[in-house]
Amino acid sequence: MKIIGTGSAHPKQVVTNEMLSTFLDTNDEWIKTRTGIQERRVISSERLEDLALEAMERALQSTKLTARDIDFIICSNVVNEYITPGLGCVLQGMLGATCPTIDVNGACAGFIYALDIADAFFKSGRVKNVLVVAAEEPSRMMDWTDRSTCVLFGDGAGAVVLTEGDNFESFSLTNTSMPEALYQRHKLQYTPYVDKDEPDHAVIMNGQDVFKMAVRGSIRDLNRVMQKANVTPDQVDHYLLHQANIRIIDTIREYMKQGWDKFPHFIEKYGNTSSSSIPMLLDEMAREGKIKDGDRIAMSAFGAGFTTAACLLKWTEIKYEE
Ligand code: ACO
Repeated sequence: MKIIGTGSAHPKQVVTNEMLSTFLDTNDEWIKTRTGIQERRVISSERLEDLALEAMERALQSTKLTARDIDFIICSNVVNEYITPGLGCVLQGMLGATCPTIDVNGACAGFIYALDIADAFFKSGRVKNVLVVAAEEPSRMMDWTDRSTCVLFGDGAGAVVLTEGDNFESFSLTNTSMPEALYQRHKLQYTPYVDKDEPDHAVIMNGQDVFKMAVRGSIRDLNRVMQKANVTPDQVDHYLLHQANIRIIDTIREYMKQGWDKFPHFIEKYGNTSSSSIPMLLDEMAREGKIKDGDRIAMSAFGAGFTTAACLLKWTEIKYEE
C-alpha cells in the first residue's frame, strides 16, 4: 500500500504552560525542561468527531477519491463521547462513506496498529482504498488537578488515505501486558447484582517506567523494521516518533546516532496527542514540503498496554492544492 493523502485538525483552544500554572502548582520552566511542551490544544466547544471529519476530508481532498471510493475505514481512538457505536461508525456517516469500519484501541501506538491492519487487508486483495484516522482527546481522561499528568497531553486528529502500492517496507508490533504503567478505569452502569468494588478514576501513570519502556520498545522496534527491510539507520531520512516527550525522542535519536534534522517534532505546540501525533506530524511535514519523493520514513510509537509499534515506508510526493 501507499499513502496518497494526509490531513489533520486540532482544537482552537490553546493552553499554554503559563495558563496551567494559574491553577496548578507547576511552571513553564519545569514543563519545558522535562517534556519539551510549551502549549497544547484542548477540546472545548468542538466534538472529537468534528476534528476527525476535518482531518479525513483534508486527507481525501489531496487525492482524486471521494468518500464512496473508500473500502474500509480504520479508526484509532482511545476515548470519545460514545461507548458504542465505535467512533469509526459515527465518522463513516459524517464523511458520506458506505464501507465497513472498525475501531482500534492501541493507545498511542494505535495509528501504526491501524496501518498494519490496513496492510493485511491490501495484501489479502480485499481493498483498493483505505482511510485510517486517528482521533484522540486525552485531555478528557486526565485529572486536571494532577500536575504530573494533565500538563502532558493535548487533543487532535490525523488521517491518511491509502491505496494499492508497495511503499511500506516492514512493520513490527508488540504488546507487553502491563496495564499498571498507564491506565484509567471507570465505573460501568449499575445493576442489582454487582457486588464488587469498581475503581473510577482519571489516568494514573508511572512516568519513569513509561519513559524507560518507551525508549527500550522504540529502539527495539526500529531495529526490527530496519533489519527486516535490510536498511541501516543512516538510510532513514525521517524518524517520525510518537510525540510524548522531547527527552524520549532525544534518547532514541542519540541511540540511532542521527542528527536532529531527521527527528522532526512539534510536541512544543501540541503536547502528546496520543495516536494522532504521528499522522498530524506527517500531514504538517508533507504540506510544508519537508518530505521529498523517495524519502524513507520510520514511524515508531508506544503507549498504554504496554503497546509499541513501528513501520518503515518510502514516500511518494503528494500534490496539495493549498
Ligand atoms: N510541575 C512541577 N513539578 C512537577 C510536575 C509539574 N507539572 N509534575 C511532577 N512534578 C514534580 C514531582 O512531584 C516530583 O517532585 P518531588 O521530587 O518533590 O517528588 C518532581 O517533579 C520530579 O518528578 P518525576 O516524576 O521524577 O519527574 P521526571 O523527570 O520523571 O518527569 C515525566 C516526569 C515528564 C512524566 C517523565 O517521567 C515522562 O515524560 N515520562 C514519560 C511519560 C510519557 O511519555 N507518557 C505518555 C507515553 S504513553 C502515551 O502517550 C499514552
